[in-house]
This record gives sequence, C-alpha cells and structure tokens, in this order.
Amino acid sequence: MKQAIHLAKPTVIFIMGVSGVGKSTIGALLAKQLEIPFFDADDYHSEANILKMSQGQPLTDHDRHDWLHALNTLAVAQLKTNSCIIACSALKASYRTILETTIAAATKWVFLHGSFQQIKERMQHRSHHFMTSDLLQSQFDTLEIPQNALSIDIHVSPEEMVAKIQENLPLKAQFGLIGLGVMGKSLCRNLAQKGVRISMYNRHVPEVEEDIAINFKKEFEELSSALPFDDLPAFVNSLKTPRKIMLMVNAGTAIDAVIENLLPFLSQGDSIIDGGNSNYKKTKERFEFLKSKGIHFIGAGVSGGEEGALKGPSIMPGGNAKAYQQVQPFLERIAAKDKNGVPCCSYVGNEGSGHFVKMIHNGIEYVEMQLLADVYTLLKAKGNTPDQIADILETWKSTKNSYLLEITCTILRKKEGDDWLVNKIMDTAGNKGTGNWAIIATAELGVPSTLIASALFARYASFYKAERVAANKQFNPQQHTAPKSSLEDLHKAYQFARIINHYQGFKLIQEASERFKWALNLSELARIWTNGCIIRSDYMIELATIFKTTHNLFAHQNTVQALKARKSAIQKVVAESVLHELPIPSISNAIHFFTGYTTANSSANLLQAQRDYFGAHTYQRKEDDTGQYYHTDWQQH
Ligand code: 6PG
Repeated sequence: MKQAIHLAKPTVIFIMGVSGVGKSTIGALLAKQLEIPFFDADDYHSEANILKMSQGQPLTDHDRHDWLHALNTLAVAQLKTNSCIIACSALKASYRTILETTIAAATKWVFLHGSFQQIKERMQHRSHHFMTSDLLQSQFDTLEIPQNALSIDIHVSPEEMVAKIQENLPLKAQFGLIGLGVMGKSLCRNLAQKGVRISMYNRHVPEVEEDIAINFKKEFEELSSALPFDDLPAFVNSLKTPRKIMLMVNAGTAIDAVIENLLPFLSQGDSIIDGGNSNYKKTKERFEFLKSKGIHFIGAGVSGGEEGALKGPSIMPGGNAKAYQQVQPFLERIAAKDKNGVPCCSYVGNEGSGHFVKMIHNGIEYVEMQLLADVYTLLKAKGNTPDQIADILETWKSTKNSYLLEITCTILRKKEGDDWLVNKIMDTAGNKGTGNWAIIATAELGVPSTLIASALFARYASFYKAERVAANKQFNPQQHTAPKSSLEDLHKAYQFARIINHYQGFKLIQEASERFKWALNLSELARIWTNGCIIRSDYMIELATIFKTTHNLFAHQNTVQALKARKSAIQKVVAESVLHELPIPSISNAIHFFTGYTTANSSANLLQAQRDYFGAHTYQRKEDDTGQYYHTDWQQH
C-alpha cells in the first residue's frame, strides 16, 4: 500500500550542514514525498555574497545577516499556509536563532553530517557550484554542532536518509480510531503492527476513564509512533485528509453522540466507519444524515472477538462504494486472510447492508452455538463427563471442523479444582441484541428463519431460572434415563441441522438483498466468513464455492444428498429427545422446519378458510390459476 505522508502540523524543516553534504538533494527529495515546497537558501544570497564566495572568500557574519533574515521571513510566510523545507548551511547557533525567530515551536532541524574527506570528494565531483572545496575547511571550522537537531549520517543512500528523517517527523496519522475498549484496542494494535500510522482517541471521564489512550500507547511497543488523544479536535487535526475514522464504541446512542461531537471538526469527503454491532436501520439513517453533510459513513460488521480484532477479523463493510475505496486498503490490511491469502474483507453493498449481514452472521452464530449446546445436553444425558464429551467432539473435527466446535472442546476440558468449570456456570444465557434484531428483520421480510428464533428463544427461556426450577419440581420430567440414539446418529443430526442453519441464514440474506436492492454476493460473503469470524468453518469454505452457482442451497445436489443421508438419524435423535424429555430446541427445529418445507400440501388451506370465515380475508382455489380470490359465506347451508 502506498503510504500517504503528511506532517501533523505546519512545520519548517531546515536541512543544515556544511556545503557539499547534500542538503539540496535530500531537501528536494523529502519535499517531494511530503508534497510541500522546497527552498534552497543559496538562491537567496545577494549578488555581492555570491561574488565573494566564488572568489573563494568566506562570508562574514555581517554578510550573512540580511540573508538569514530573508530566509526567516520566507519561513514565517510559508508557515501561514503550509509546511516547507529550507536547505541552509546554518552553521552557527546564532544563525539558527535568526532563522527560527518567532517560529521556533514550528521548526525542525535536520543536521546532515559526514567526514571532511567524504565531503571533499563529493565537492570535487561537482561542477557549476560557486563554493570551492577550499572553503570546506572554513565551513568545518565555523560549524557549531546543533544540540536539538535530528542528526543524519550521509554514508547511506539519499532514499535511506529521507526515510530516516520521515521516521522522526511529526507526521499526520493515516487512520484514526475512537473508543479504546477491548475491540478498539486490539484493532489499534493490529493497525500499528501492519505499519499504519494511527491516532487513537478515548474520551476523558474524570476518575473513570482517564489517560486511556496515553497509557495504552505506553503498554505496547508497536504503538510507539501512534498518537494518543483525549481531546477530540486535536485527534481530528492529527489525521491526514480525507480523514478515516473508525468508531469502536457501544452500538446505540453512543454512536450518535460521537458523530455529533465529531461533525464540527470534520471536512467534506471524510469517512466515518462504524465497526460496532449497530442496527442496520440506524446505519441507513446515519448514512443518509452524514451524506447530507458531505461525510461518508461506512457501517462495517467486524467479527472475531478480541483475538480476531488483534490477529485479523472478518470485516463486512457497507455504504457508498466509492467512499469504501478510501478505507479499503486499511481494512484489508488488518483483516484475516482466506486460504488463498485474500483478505476476509469485501465491500458488501449500499446503506446498512454491512451491518445487516453481520446481524445475520450473529444469527447463524447463535444457532451454531445452540446446536453444540443441544449436543452437549444429549451427551450429558448419556452419562458423559465434560472431558468425555470433548473427546467425542474432537473426533468430529476431522469431518467438518469449525471455530465454535474447537472452542467448545477447549471449554469442556477446563477444570476449576476437582470439577469442570462449565458445571459451575449459571445456566442463563445473555445476549447483546443482534439475534433479537435478526428475528425482527426476518419477520419483517416474511422469511421463516426458524432456527435463529429457536436459538434466540432458548436463550430467553434460560432466563426464567427460578420458574424453570419450580416447574421441574412440579412436572418432574424423566430426564434421567439415557437416550438410545447412537453417537453416529447424533453426529449426523448435528450435521443435518448445520446445513439447515446455513440454508436459512443465507436465504434471509438473499431475500433482504432482493428487497433492498443491495445485490449481495452470497459466495463472497461466505468467503469472507471462512476466516477471522466466529462462524468460520470447513463448511463455510464449501459454501463459498456452492454459492457461485446457486442462491438456493436446497437446489444443490451435494446438499440434497447430504440431507437425505442424515434425515433418518436426526428423526431418531429428536424422537428420542422428546421421549426422554431432553430439550434440544435447535436440532429439533431443524427437522421440523425441513419436514414442513418438504411438504407439498400443507395445512395452510385450513388457515385460509378460518381467516375467510371470521374476517372475510378471502382465499385462492387450487383449480384456478388466474390468481383470483374467493369469499365464502361459511354459515350458509
Ligand atoms: C463476533 C461476535 C461478536 C459478539 C456479539 C454477539 O462476530 O465477533 O458475534 O460480535 O459475540 O456481541 O454476542 P451476544 O451473544 O452477546 O449477542
């Protein structure tokens, strides 16, 4: 990625040193890279001075007086609009004092130095220069080595010298991040490790959040060139324009508050990226609002938790495609890579589509988690300890591994004292809202995402701990006898349910894509979910290929075969679970959905008749394909 370089604040850089040291070459090269003007002090000498020097006579301090003041005037004038570079020998401390009069705080000194012999040889190779090599000794004699300058040895190439100077300049940051919570901090470190110059901001809340950014910078070596702030205008000013600012703050009103505070300091064409789990409808509203202000808004789903954010998350950016191009190199750099080394970050679509697909990602995640919880319920009922359950699940990895399967094995093995930690954890599951929004979205779109509902409602039902305990006493379910279904059947049931989960998740995305005209690419979404994110799995890698040829998983022959081969197993497992009163909400929902989906003539005819009876809602008839609606007076004999 080409590094765009801008100085953090208007600065005059004086490149100083004896004649022949290479000030003009280095100054011009640096100026080109920083895109700022370059001035050679030699061009500001009076004719009298030039004549004197060409005659081999050293200039006196008096000779230099007007020249130094002219250069100071030039520097002061330049600073009003821009930074600049001035190459000037500035051999004495008193000369440098004149040069930086009134602008010392905005002045940076770079001292080029080499041996007398090395410089003499260089000068002898030069033509058309009024300074003869005889004057060199007097230059060395006059030189008072500066204490406050960046000292650069000229024995390396000009390019290396310029790179060294740049490393030491207060440069504008390329990318800003607001919100140094767990995810924000990890993303900062990830960006910095990839060589991105960042500015980091965390608000100041007395006695609660103080010096967060400054202290965080001190903790990690890779943040040595990162700029820490708790002052918003200073943070914004530290960024190169057009600015790229990523928000990693809590979804909801906090996002609007940050946007409101940022807006007065932003310029047209700047981009804000919301990397949190925001509601896609709010993202669309923010997108429109900021568009009216000339600011780009990218709603980016970011998955992978703390570790993913640090080592490489899966990123799902949505918004204006052109604006995305500005932030693309940064997001791609920090994203996980797929099996071919391609970033797991791809432009999703317009408006809130990035956050929409992240929401569905989370819905699929809820189900994948619940399916493993269902498996755990059954294996526990068979009398297995958590370690034994982990042993069984380990064997499943070789068929189709997944991140969630892996972490579940690790979790199950974790002990605290004599007991497994999992046994000590209260069985009430939390959530942060994305599953809830996914169910609202699927209901609004009219898509039966029954598995997400099953997993979400299983979490909600878990909340009623006290009522469940009371009901257990009241109804005394016979959950003590071991279900008979085999481990092989259980494995097949799990695989069957996973297929249904992915079918439903991608179906919901496809329907939304059509409804909102987002033109989402299912194969590409599956691809960016093959690494970095929570639902990464071997199956997702297969799906990235399958979705290249169809949008409908059930139309894919391998899927049809896989479901047929596992159907009787899931039927047995679910039937057994019912008989043994074992709750496996998502596995059972998978076969119930499938049974309904594969029923050509459903009971909905009766629903239509009922609707027509009490509400005259009308119905269509099987023998009439014109689409006409009928009403019957059901009570008339
Ligand atoms: C991810 C996760 C992450 C997080 C959510 C959902 O993709 O990295 O989905 O975003 O786990 O907060 O978690 P809840 O279970 O709390 O809803």
